[in-house]
Formats: sequence, C-alpha cells, structure tokens
Amino acid sequence: MPIVAIVSQKGGSGKTTLAIHLAVRAVASGKLTYVIDTDPQATAAAWGDWRGDYQPEVITSPPARLTRTIQTLTKGGGEFIVIDTPPHADAAAREAVKAADLVLIPTRLRAFDLHAIEATAELVGFAGTPAFVLLNAVPARATRQVDAAIQAVDGYGLKVCPVRFGERAAFHQASATGEVAAEINVETKAAAEVEALWQWVGQQIGN
Ligand SMILES: Nc1ncnc2c1ncn2[C@@H]1O[C@H](COP(=O)(O)OP(=O)(O)O)[C@@H](O)[C@H]1O
Ligand SMILES: [Mg+2]
Repeated sequence: MPIVAIVSQKGGSGKTTLAIHLAVRAVASGKLTYVIDTDPQATAAAWGDWRGDYQPEVITSPPARLTRTIQTLTKGGGEFIVIDTPPHADAAAREAVKAADLVLIPTRLRAFDLHAIEATAELVGFAGTPAFVLLNAVPARATRQVDAAIQAVDGYGLKVCPVRFGERAAFHQASATGEVAAEINVETKAAAEVEALWQWVGQQIGN
C-alpha cells in the first residue's frame, strides 16, 4: 500500500495542510485512505473530528506504535496512507520516513524555514526513502525567492518537487472547517495544485 510521510522539523511549514489535502484527493479516487497523526498536538485529528463521518479517517498513533498501526490498517483493507508528523521530533519523523514509500517535506521560502531543511535532510538521507521538498505558501511573483529556495534545497542534497503550493486563503479556510480547498470550491488554484500533486505522486509511487 502506498504510504506518504509528511515531514519537516519546522512548525507551520504546512505539514498538516498537505497531509489532509493529499488524503482527501486519494479518497476522491476511491481509495480507502487513512491519515495517521503522530503529532501529540493532534491537529490532523482535530480536523478529522470537525469533518465527522466523511473520509479519510484520522488515526492518532504515537511513533512507537506506527508500524503496528500501519499493519492493522493494511489488514483492514487500507489502500493509501498519509502520515502527518510533529515538528522538532526526530523519533517521530524517523519512524514515519522508515515506513514510507515517499517523503514530502513542505517548506515556506523564508530563510529560517529553509535552514530547518538541513536537519530534515540528514534524517531522510539516513533512511534512503525518496524525498522531495515541496515549496509551500509561495507568494505571487516570487521568482527570485523560489530560485534561492531551490538552490538552498539543492545544497542540502534534496530534490525539489515540481509541484508547488501558492500562498492561498483556500488552503487555510478549508482546513478550519474540516474540509479541503476543493470541497469549498473546485475551481480554486489551491484545488488545481493538489490535483497536480496527486498526479505527480502517482508517477512516483503508483497510487
Ligand atoms: N499554501 C498555503 N497557503 C496559505 N496558508 C497555508 C498554506 N499552507 C499552510 N497554511 C496555513 O499555515 C498554518 C500552518 O499550517 P500547518 O499545515 O498547520 O503546518 P504544520 O502542520 O507544518 O505545523 C495553518 O494556519 C495553515 O492553514
Ligand atoms: Mg501539523
């Protein structure tokens, strides 16, 4: 079963937003999808509560139980898993990276955020799971910032995902209501970006 881990040592980089949007897109393609929330702050789980009975189900799991949780979900017929992780948590991130087929590392373009990639790069490099940095909340007309970010990511020995998420209110608004951007308005740029990401993820791991 395809497993995507969302990892970044920096809080606020967009991990949970990315995790829930990717998971809902997997649901839309008919896959029995789960989000495993390993963050003690349980942001994805709170979103799952607001969402109610609509899929994906969000399962909270401490990192030490992650392998077991994945086994249980696989036995139950799970077809796609997205693992959301906490910031500043080597153990949790390491377990998620080990379990995953693909790692996505969202980052904003600010210098502090880019700097935090170094720690994540080390962690990912050790496990050998394919990993890509996803440039998130990219402001409009930020070509120079994007170029600098790509250069920084390159310097840490990581690849950049060709799909980027712009700075878009739709990502923010949707999450707060237990939805995703496409459910509020499928015509939004945010929805198109998620679609592009889903297609690209499919090319990487055959979802
Ligand atoms: N592309 C984006 N455009 C606008 N707001 C975003 C975007 N990605 C994330 N956000 C907002 O940024 C904040 C932090 O995102 P979150 O996904 O909770 O990060 P993390 O899980 O890494 O701490 C949230 O308020 C979220 O709605
Ligand atoms: Mg989070």
